[in-house]
Amino acid sequence: MNKVLLIGSDGMLGGDLAEILAEKYDVTTTTIETLDICDKEAVINKVKEVQPYFIINCAAYTNVDSCEVNYDLAKKINGDALSNIVEAAKIVNATIIHISTDYVFQGNLDLDKVYREDMESVPVSAYGKTKLIGEKNVQKYDKYYILRTAWLYGIRGKNFVKTMLRLSKEKEEISVVSDQHGSPTSTIALCRIIEQIMEKEPKYGIYHATCEGYTSWYEFTKKIFEEAGIETKVKPITSAEYKEIYPTSSNRPKNSMLSKEKLQKIGIYPEEYEEALKKYLKEELKR
Ligand SMILES: NC(=O)c1ccc[n+]([C@@H]2O[C@H](COP(=O)([O-])OP(=O)(O)OC[C@H]3O[C@@H](n4cnc5c(N)ncnc54)[C@H](OP(=O)(O)O)[C@@H]3O)[C@@H](O)[C@H]2O)c1
Repeated sequence: MNKVLLIGSDGMLGGDLAEILAEKYDVTTTTIETLDICDKEAVINKVKEVQPYFIINCAAYTNVDSCEVNYDLAKKINGDALSNIVEAAKIVNATIIHISTDYVFQGNLDLDKVYREDMESVPVSAYGKTKLIGEKNVQKYDKYYILRTAWLYGIRGKNFVKTMLRLSKEKEEISVVSDQHGSPTSTIALCRIIEQIMEKEPKYGIYHATCEGYTSWYEFTKKIFEEAGIETKVKPITSAEYKEIYPTSSNRPKNSMLSKEKLQKIGIYPEEYEEALKKYLKEELKR
């Protein structure tokens, strides 16, 4: 049974991944309380102690708006700390699986464009910039998988679906951005992709890892309400109108559409976002 060190297991993705991988792997988990990835010595000591085959990093500074005002801290966690993980991985020859984001792309509104892994990264937000620094640090090592995901939601933690469900109870009409496009991705669907990467061990590199299908936040909200039998009205607004309401919010990519062709070529077929949403709502609405 391969040993896995799963960093960031208290997070939305890390929590689900810890449960799923425990069925097949000898998993050691760490949280921010037990391992701060910014502490190089602690990271090295943990990796030497566990001797993992895979190191999976789900830890990150994920509050996109707050990255704009706390850039230095975000850079430390999302960017610089990856050098610590790389240094530790080298000592035990472990393979790194690191989770990154669609925010590394500029994301101009050009819906004919679907981002491939090899396309130029020009982040427009502090979060995206710090995550790109992290990617570059991971790429200084040769044994890595960088999985770029997007629009993630899961049972643990705050997410878009939960927010819409809550707002539907508080308001008669909700305004939702209609000019940002991407693939909503459930943590469980992403865990299944990660599991398959671990099983297949394809060529090292960057892989786009979201659910299949593209939508806008506005259309996605309508889908959530349709599935949940909610009748609250949904009004489309532009990103510019949203920014007028929330002036300190970070710039977000308008096009977050990531091509999954590279995953498909290695025989990994992500779930359609509508299917993943249905499964998620079944769990969420029971709670
Ligand atoms: N959520 C999305 O929509 C989305 C989209 C694209 C990519 N991603 C990426 O997917 C990954 C997982 O995201 P998520 O939504 O599961 O994030 P999350 O719920 O915020 O989990 C991240 C975890 O990392 C921990 N952490 C923060 N600083 C740390 C440090 N210095 N050392 C160790 N742990 C630390 C956090 O602890 P605290 O909570 O105590 O700070 C939290 O438990 C991240 O790499 C993220 O960038 C997420």
